[in-house]
Amino acid sequence: MRTDALPQELIRAKRDGRALSPEAIGELVAGITDGSLSDAQVGALAMAIFLNGMDTAETVALTEAIRDSGRVLAWDDLDLPGPVLDKHSTGGVGDLVSLVLGPWIAACGGFVPMVSGRGLGHTGGTLDKLEAIPGYSVTPDSATFRRLVREVGVAIVGQSGELAPADKRLYAVRDVTATVESLPLIVASILGKKLACGLDALVMDVKTGSGAFMPSHQAAVELATSIADVATRAGTPTTALVTDMSQPLAPCAGNAIEVREAIRLLSGEKRHGRLLEVTRRLAAELLVAGGLANDRTAALARLDDTLSSGAVAERFAAMVAGLGGPADLLDRPDRHLPEAPVTLAVHAGRAGVVQAMDTRALGLAVVELGGGRRAPGEAIDPAVGLTRIASLGETVDAERPLALVQAASQDDAERAAGRVRDAITLGDADFAAPTLIHDRIQGEAS
Ligand code: URA
Repeated sequence: MRTDALPQELIRAKRDGRALSPEAIGELVAGITDGSLSDAQVGALAMAIFLNGMDTAETVALTEAIRDSGRVLAWDDLDLPGPVLDKHSTGGVGDLVSLVLGPWIAACGGFVPMVSGRGLGHTGGTLDKLEAIPGYSVTPDSATFRRLVREVGVAIVGQSGELAPADKRLYAVRDVTATVESLPLIVASILGKKLACGLDALVMDVKTGSGAFMPSHQAAVELATSIADVATRAGTPTTALVTDMSQPLAPCAGNAIEVREAIRLLSGEKRHGRLLEVTRRLAAELLVAGGLANDRTAALARLDDTLSSGAVAERFAAMVAGLGGPADLLDRPDRHLPEAPVTLAVHAGRAGVVQAMDTRALGLAVVELGGGRRAPGEAIDPAVGLTRIASLGETVDAERPLALVQAASQDDAERAAGRVRDAITLGDADFAAPTLIHDRIQGEAS
């Protein structure tokens, strides 16, 4: 049922604090997509939502309208013998969960059409990491993407302009109108894109701590709750975990560096650590939501068995080869992944125990080294970054550096070393490792 209202009247209603009907929201999003709403109107609408918020019903309607503004992927015709599942993260430093989780779910019988993004601000992006692999194409044609999802169970690719085009325009306007930090706009933006991938279930990793998009725990819980509820009400059962980002998730950050770390986990060379634990817990949520395990205990056991069997590494290798990367990447990563010419150990001025980290500053140090972008479209250096980053509670001394900088030049390395020293606080007291998984929030359908 059309409202027959002028867009400015709908914007006025939101400006005055009234709730918009799903029809009104649908018309506004259609106008954003087809260009009939001017930039001024889109900006005014975004500001009205920013100032007055949206209730859950409105946020669900906005999410569904953004999801449906372009192509919505459908998998029914492939007769997949398992559920279509995915994970999304609010982003962080040393967060390479997607590289391990996608093939892990595939090896357990799920199907993962993962549409990922590039680095944003201080956070790394899955696409930039995968592009560190020579030949890997993040923009396969739709037939290749679907074939890989069917045959390998996982394909991690970039977003095509066909998915959720309303978000692209709305986000660009928000970016220049000081309206990014609005809960309903963030929720609808994230979910509009994710739910266009035709998922049976989703798990959301919302980070909290000094490297998170939402550093405060309270804000992270609010975002996690809203995402889980809105996605579930929009028809995709969703659970959210609030996880720690008060230090890098892996002990390293940088594009090729993180692919190497993924390979160490997939090949079984490394079987412990925060990254593995967060990935296991997120994957367990998906196995249960997708009916591939009866409960989380059974899911974790199945995940551990599958990883030990080598099946997860096989799926990763098949995905890489299927998207144009080298077939022997897992056997010979050093032959294919670039390495930075300069390595510099960053020593603290004193011995001590790591008490706190400005994780965002560590991410920005990687960006400054050339591992991220200062402006959209800039080329990045896949080889640079940080390795062997000390953990909270770890003792550093003349033997154990704070981290190793991997840089393109000595000057870059020394500048980054200063940033790392400034970002890490030492003390003498023991420091207990922070809680890794703070909360688990199950989306509610009503
Ligand atoms: N990521 C998104 O995709 N959208 C937002 O609004 C914020 C973060």
